[in-house]
Amino acid sequence: MGFLRQKWYVAAWADELPAGGRLARTLLGEPLLIWRAGDGRVGALADRCPHRYAPLSLGRCDGDTITCGYHGLRFDLAGACVENPHGPITAALNVPSFPVVERHRVLWIWMGDPDRADPATIPDLWFVDAATEHSWSKGYMHTAAGHKLLEDNILDLSHADYLHPDTLGGGALTRTRARVEERGETIFVEWLAVNERPMPVFAALMPSPEAPVDSWTSVLWHPNGVMVLRAGATPTGMAWESGLDSWNAHIMTPETATTTHYFYCNCRQYRTDDAALNAAMAAGLRAAFEREDKPMIEAQQRRLGARELFDIRPALLPIDTASVRARRLFDRLCADEAAAAGTN
Ligand code: FES
Ligand SMILES: [Fe+2]
Repeated sequence: MGFLRQKWYVAAWADELPAGGRLARTLLGEPLLIWRAGDGRVGALADRCPHRYAPLSLGRCDGDTITCGYHGLRFDLAGACVENPHGPITAALNVPSFPVVERHRVLWIWMGDPDRADPATIPDLWFVDAATEHSWSKGYMHTAAGHKLLEDNILDLSHADYLHPDTLGGGALTRTRARVEERGETIFVEWLAVNERPMPVFAALMPSPEAPVDSWTSVLWHPNGVMVLRAGATPTGMAWESGLDSWNAHIMTPETATTTHYFYCNCRQYRTDDAALNAAMAAGLRAAFEREDKPMIEAQQRRLGARELFDIRPALLPIDTASVRARRLFDRLCADEAAAAGTN
C-alpha cells in the first residue's frame, strides 16, 4: 500500500512534547525522533545515526542538541552534525530532517518534497483553538489496523447504531440516507435527521429525554487522514442554535501499512464550563473508541492480513458510498504523486 507523501501529517498532540521532551514515533513507515528544545522549537529527524544506524532516540538530549548514545556524534534540531569526537565534521554526518509546524495544538510534519511544504494546506481545526479548559477533551490511540479501515469507520457512522448502541447509536444514522459530495480534494458526508430518536449521549442532555429531535451529523475527510466530524441535535422544530452542537477531529496518521496513530478530540459548543460533564464525555468517548471501535477494527485487519480490503472485492452497501469515494480519491492522488515522481 502506498502512502501519500506530499501532505502534512499529525505527528503528535503538541503537549506530548514538553520542553526538552522527545518522542520516538514511526510515521509512513519511517522511524522518527521528534524532540523539543528548551526554547520550544521542535525538530523531527530520521531516527538513525548516520554512523552505525543506532537510533538517535537512545541518545542524550541536551538543550538544543542530541548526542548519539553509541559513539557521541552530536546533532542540532535541523539534523546538522555539530560535533564529531573522532574527526572532522562532513556533510555525510548530517541526519535527514523534516519540517514541523505547531498549529491547532498539534504537531504537523511534512515528509514529502521540502519545497512543497506549505503550511497553508494544513486542514483548519479552528474549533481546537477555540476550545476552553472544560469544553474539550482529546486522546491518542495506537491501533493495529491500516488507516483506511479507520477512516471507513468514520465515513460510515451507521456503525454507531450497532457498535455503540447505548452511547453514540440510537438508530437515526441507519434510517437516514447520507448525502455524499466531493469538494476539491476532500469528501463531505452528511446525515440530516428530522423527528428522530437522539443518540443516548444527547438524549440525557435534552430538555425532555424522550422527545424527538432533529439532528445533524457530518464528516469532512481529508486525504491526509484528518476528519472533521460535527454532531448536533435540537428538539424537533427548534433552531440548530438552540440545540447541542459539537465539533470533533478524528485523525488517522499511518504508522505502517497495517498500523495507525489515531488522534481524536471532542469540542462541545454547549455547557462549555461544565467540568463534570466534560470529564464524563471524555471517559465515555474513550471507552467507546478503545473498547468498541478498536477491537472490531483490529479484528477486521487480522482477518484481512496483508490484503487490501478493496482488492478482494468486498460486498458493498449504500452506507459505503463515502468510503468508496474517499478511497477512489486517495488512489487518484497516489497515482498523481507517482506520476510526478516519475517525471522528476
Ligand atoms: S552509531 Fe551514532 S555515533 Fe556511532
Ligand atoms: Fe465508532
